[in-house]
Amino acid sequence: MKLWSGRFTKASDKLTEDFNASIAVDQRMYRQDIAGSIAHATMLARQGILTPEEGDLIVTGLKEIQQELEEGKLEFTVEAEDVHMNIETFLIRKIGEVGKKLHTARSRNDQVALDVRLYLRDEIQAVRNLIIDLQQVILDLASKHRQSIMPGYTHLQKAQPVTLAHHLMAYFEMLRRDLGRLDDCFKRTNSMPLGSGALAGTGFPLDRELVKEKLGFEEITRNSLDAVSDRDFAVEFAGLASILMMHLSRFAEEIILWSTEEFGFVELDDAFSTGSSIMPQKKNPDLAELVRGKTGRVYGDLITLLTLMKSLPLAYNKDMQEDKEALFDAVDTVKKSLMVLAPMLSSAKFRTDRMASAARGGFTNATDLADYLVNKGLPFRDAHAVVGRAVLYCIQKGISLEEVDLATYRDFTPLIEKDVYPYIDVLQCVIRRQLPGGPAPDTVEQAIKEAGEWLRRVKNVSAE
Ligand code: ARG
Repeated sequence: MKLWSGRFTKASDKLTEDFNASIAVDQRMYRQDIAGSIAHATMLARQGILTPEEGDLIVTGLKEIQQELEEGKLEFTVEAEDVHMNIETFLIRKIGEVGKKLHTARSRNDQVALDVRLYLRDEIQAVRNLIIDLQQVILDLASKHRQSIMPGYTHLQKAQPVTLAHHLMAYFEMLRRDLGRLDDCFKRTNSMPLGSGALAGTGFPLDRELVKEKLGFEEITRNSLDAVSDRDFAVEFAGLASILMMHLSRFAEEIILWSTEEFGFVELDDAFSTGSSIMPQKKNPDLAELVRGKTGRVYGDLITLLTLMKSLPLAYNKDMQEDKEALFDAVDTVKKSLMVLAPMLSSAKFRTDRMASAARGGFTNATDLADYLVNKGLPFRDAHAVVGRAVLYCIQKGISLEEVDLATYRDFTPLIEKDVYPYIDVLQCVIRRQLPGGPAPDTVEQAIKEAGEWLRRVKNVSAE
């Protein structure tokens, strides 16, 4: 029998029951549901809405149910529809009549809003820790590679020399912003909706502040209609998760590219690579490819949530039951992706010799040659043209700018002197770029130091 069957004259059709049920998905929130019910029952007893004995019976019963669920002794049923009514049914079965009082002054609408918020709060914390772990891996690698010269690219064409440390720290910065967005999302998730009832609150004298305190929320929601129909926090999470995955997909893409024979900048550890069922020689970066591919899933989750909420009239609508699958998928995908990238990266071998020789070809020092001429008094636009001609000459001869002899250089412009050679050495090109945010080893050392201090600070506080 359904908990809501009073006004019905027939049982549900089996199709109705299956289509309507969410237990397969929302059972994941059983701990949150029980925690919310314990707080609610405790408050009901404090307010004299339940007797102390009734409150105790319910709380003890709920704790036992949690225990039994954890031991696999209880089975959820589709007949009981969702996690809320499954647990209420267990409770009534366990403690009898008193169990029927738990749902006083509460609706599944404020209950589910509470459960999702409690769930997401924990998961935000978990994702936060995983971002920090990945940032630590990046930081450790960057510290080792402050002097490792590599070509920087624009349009995937060699542009100017940078260092591996500087390149890696670019990802640190992306993740720093992701962490900021996560903490921001936490603030709006951390609001307590119980007491909103189905949509219009309740006439019972609840103590919403007490429930808020018991469940560790920052504040209570301020409008009952909004509270039962707000899923902004889930959309926000999927939004920040999409941006985070976008960053991870860029990182993954570079790892895939760098582990090709053509680039040869990195070799992934065997433990984090996979083989081919037909081609014996293959070692593939499948994990990075999957991170790249799974980014699409999370974008899909975001679009699911946005579309689900679009045009919904106030207040609760059953459409919203569909939010969980998308939210859970975004949470799972982001966590797994962060989890796999960290050890894949820390165990990878960076082939700094290949990077350095790649930085030496391809005229990555051409801008510096132009800058050299600017320092000798030539306007930049003219310097650009002169160097352009020198590059063309080199391409025709199959040599690099370092290999042009002085006499030839002086045919291009007499402003060039012997000191040009140390000036356009790629290491010097990097060392020169000392502005804040630049790739010079000393500058990056400072950036790494600041990043390390920031990381220690954020590690010591939880999302807030
Ligand atoms: N299983 C529902 C959900 O996830 C719980 C709320 C149901 N409320 C209702 N009035 N049918 O949204």
